[in-house]
Amino acid sequence: MGYRPSERLTTDLCGVGMVSPVVLASGTAGVLGEMGDVMDLGVLGGIVTKSITREAREGNGFPRITWTRGGMLNAIGLANPGLDVWRDEIGPRVGGVGTNVFGSVAGDSVNEYVEIASAMDAVEGMKIIELNVSCPNVHSGLEFGADLGALKELVSAVVGVMGNTKMFVKLSPIVVGTPHSVVDLAKVAVDAGADGLTLCNTLPAMGIDVATRRPVLSNVTGGMSGPAVHPIVVRLVHLVYRGFARDAGVPIVAVGGVTRWEDAAEFILAGATAVGIGAGSFADLRVAKKVVKGLDRWCLKQGVGGIGELVGGVELD
Ligand SMILES: Cc1cc2nc3c(=O)[nH]c(=O)nc-3n(C[C@H](O)[C@H](O)[C@H](O)COP(=O)(O)O)c2cc1C
Repeated sequence: MGYRPSERLTTDLCGVGMVSPVVLASGTAGVLGEMGDVMDLGVLGGIVTKSITREAREGNGFPRITWTRGGMLNAIGLANPGLDVWRDEIGPRVGGVGTNVFGSVAGDSVNEYVEIASAMDAVEGMKIIELNVSCPNVHSGLEFGADLGALKELVSAVVGVMGNTKMFVKLSPIVVGTPHSVVDLAKVAVDAGADGLTLCNTLPAMGIDVATRRPVLSNVTGGMSGPAVHPIVVRLVHLVYRGFARDAGVPIVAVGGVTRWEDAAEFILAGATAVGIGAGSFADLRVAKKVVKGLDRWCLKQGVGGIGELVGGVELD
């Protein structure tokens, strides 16, 4: 079995007990527990499933992932088996994954999100549902996560069908087509009933192969993740935490560019209760465990009894 996180890393995320604050981010941990074949999920606080849509999706053509300086570009196009397969074949296995499972929901209408969230809520052992709102709303064309009114409507509707499962909203780090900031959108999500926030999804991005003069992704544009986005997300976590989340008691799961324990520690000092790892696991499957171990040692050196004491602990003066 090997290393197990010490009590110092025990984390409470909206009442969900976690052995450490480290989770695998949506879309980078398989549809459910596939990563358990290649890494020790027992050191993690949880895994977030691939975002599930009502219909199965093949996603975009290849190439849909590529490395770039400072991280990776992807345009997977939400490839997933769809709600029926998820409900019949995948959902029943949630309890056996060996760590907490957080379901990720995507869609292009409020009804679609509601249907999937409600199906996931009914799954035995499902702890948290994350709404991936970086999806275009068919009515406005804007992403749900970029449109205050649509986001409010969406979150309120999903809250209305939630039973015991907690609901997080996962925002984009950049909102295009609106004068509102990510902090405004986060506040709207919380006011509409979200139990927590996940910050953030990938940044809109593009790469071009100068030899062929073609875009590197078949979809032309995609999302940037990895180390280059980390400081951008640290700032957002800081702004949201200090802006209202701390006082409202709303936990933040910070995701973006974690490849070393120091990155995760920075997120915690900025105000995150938990930390997600995405691209880092593509580069090295040992990253998640190394981050957990590093955080454990950090807590010891900082002389704290629990990692929660370090949340939002950045010294500003
Ligand atoms: C290949 C790939 C697939 C992803 N798929 C999803 C997804 O289905 N749903 C989602 O909310 N985020 C998805 N993401 C975004 C990640 O969950 C994460 O928010 C983002 O990559 C930033 O973290 P990182 O820098 O550690 O990769 C995906 C990211 C990658 C790299």
